[in-house]
Amino acid sequence: MLKKNSLYLLLIITFSFIIYVIYYNFVHDPQAASFLGHKTNLKRPLQIPVWLNVMYVHVMFACLAMGSGIVNFSSYVFNRFRKFHKVNGYIYIVSLIIVVITSGYMAPYATGGKLASIPFNLLNILWPAMTFIALYHIKKRNMIRHRNWMFRSYAFCFTNLFIHLITFISHNAFGITYETSYIYGVYGSFTLLLVLPSLILARKKSLFDKF
Ligand code: HEM
Repeated sequence: MLKKNSLYLLLIITFSFIIYVIYYNFVHDPQAASFLGHKTNLKRPLQIPVWLNVMYVHVMFACLAMGSGIVNFSSYVFNRFRKFHKVNGYIYIVSLIIVVITSGYMAPYATGGKLASIPFNLLNILWPAMTFIALYHIKKRNMIRHRNWMFRSYAFCFTNLFIHLITFISHNAFGITYETSYIYGVYGSFTLLLVLPSLILARKKSLFDKF
């Protein structure tokens, strides 16, 4: 599992982001007025109350996936509470499935139109697929492959963080329109989160404790 320093760093990032996402979407702007304000030229009419409820479910289960996922990278939890690791792993998988189902509803209305909805839909297939590969490996008792695929899967919990980071830089630092910046954000985040974990796994062998 993850070495202490990497785990603590990831824990701080994850829980800070969870608190920010909950505060922003349920307290600061619960009607998502700022985000929805960027949706122009939609090909189909958006049912805002339905979209909002789907988004709330999406956010709650995304936070649950982020929280349950990170805990399962702890050696302490893994070595002492094996049963919890298993149950928590299934909580991660169920949460992830709810995130992709809700994403499937929201993708056709994505900011940036079809160009942005394509990578979202690809992710709706790839993310569960990677996670089920990880599940397959643990059923075959291959711990290292299970851990590595879960690491690749968990990276996608940072999709929203990366999208907003890239959009923010593109829009504010380079003055590119919000819609185009958002498309860059979606493609950038998708590519980085697909490639970075495998690069890290290949180069940083010391990232994990030995089993
Ligand atoms: C796990 C961490 C995630 C969090 C915290 C999260 C959070 C959010 C939030 C707050 C929104 C509302 C708009 C915004 O403020 O961005 C949103 C929209 C959306 N999310 Fe996620 N999300 C996550 C992961 C994902 C993943 C992995 C996918 C794809 C499989 C996805 C697909 C979508 C889609 C399609 C939208 C609508 C975008 C739009 O209308 O332009 N999300 N997400």
